[in-house]
Amino acid sequence: GEKSALAGKAGAVAAVIYNSGEGSLSGTLGEPSPYHVATFGLSYKDSQGYIEDLQEGKSIYSSAYIDSIVEKIETVNIIAQTKGGDAENCVMLGGHSDSVAEGPGINDDGSGSLTLLEVATQLTKYSVNNCVRFGWWAGEEEGLLGSDYYVSMLSNEENWKIRLFMDYDMLASPNYANQVYNATNEVNPTGSEELRDLYIKFYQSHNQNYTLIPFDGRSDYDAFIKHGIPGGGIAAGAEGVKTKEEAEMFGGTAGEWFDPCYHQLCDTVDNLNLTAWELNTKLVAHSVATYAKSFQGFPE
Ligand code: PHE
Ligand code: ZN
Ligand code: ZN
Repeated sequence: GEKSALAGKAGAVAAVIYNSGEGSLSGTLGEPSPYHVATFGLSYKDSQGYIEDLQEGKSIYSSAYIDSIVEKIETVNIIAQTKGGDAENCVMLGGHSDSVAEGPGINDDGSGSLTLLEVATQLTKYSVNNCVRFGWWAGEEEGLLGSDYYVSMLSNEENWKIRLFMDYDMLASPNYANQVYNATNEVNPTGSEELRDLYIKFYQSHNQNYTLIPFDGRSDYDAFIKHGIPGGGIAAGAEGVKTKEEAEMFGGTAGEWFDPCYHQLCDTVDNLNLTAWELNTKLVAHSVATYAKSFQGFPE
């Protein structure tokens, strides 16, 4: 069907989530979103042809080509919430399940999507004080569409129930850095700083360096903080160039992108740093465990 055609394009990791996400996690709320996303290739055949063209090195920006394959498709966010825990006080975390049209998006953001799925699975073994809500966002690469839609649909009452949002986009970049969004209370809601400091302490306690990166709205936390919900997150690095200092801090190669396959066809399963991914998955689990227990330090 249309959904699996999209999944085929989005790559193996995302496909698992698209095909099994709804219904496989307890408490799935599964919101169909009525917006339409303009993207490349509705049918599987189209996206295959598109990928073959890419492999032959044909320009992906030829407007004639884009005109011929752009179609409107419908897509969905997948939302799952624990049955247990105080449903009035939730910690939410999210990653995006789509990729760019140019490649399979396994690091961006299959890595975050799969980490969330693993943490959701492990969480079924524990009870929680606060509710935990997971989001797999659609259409992030087309302009944060899924998360933006989700937040825009929240009533005031529902908005208040989300005590914070944690963004997990690109957790396994091959030439990684431990990047923490520099969420400050001056420019963002009170509480974002608490979360930032939790990440910093996590890296420190694992004898890891970290860098602070701009909290500039380039991922799905954007809608949350714009609507007064504290937010933050970490990333292993996108198209930025690793400096000499960062190579000393994290290893890897100075002068190269953190993810040399960022938004390209080569963002495949071979494009993952498993050491970074494992540590960041532990960080995600730690963040969930902390706030599933208590929101101490957060605004009432
Ligand atoms: N959100 C960007 C994407 O999905 C990646 C990104 C992450 C950019 C963190 C900057 C900082 O392409
Ligand atoms: Zn991306
Ligand atoms: Zn991304």
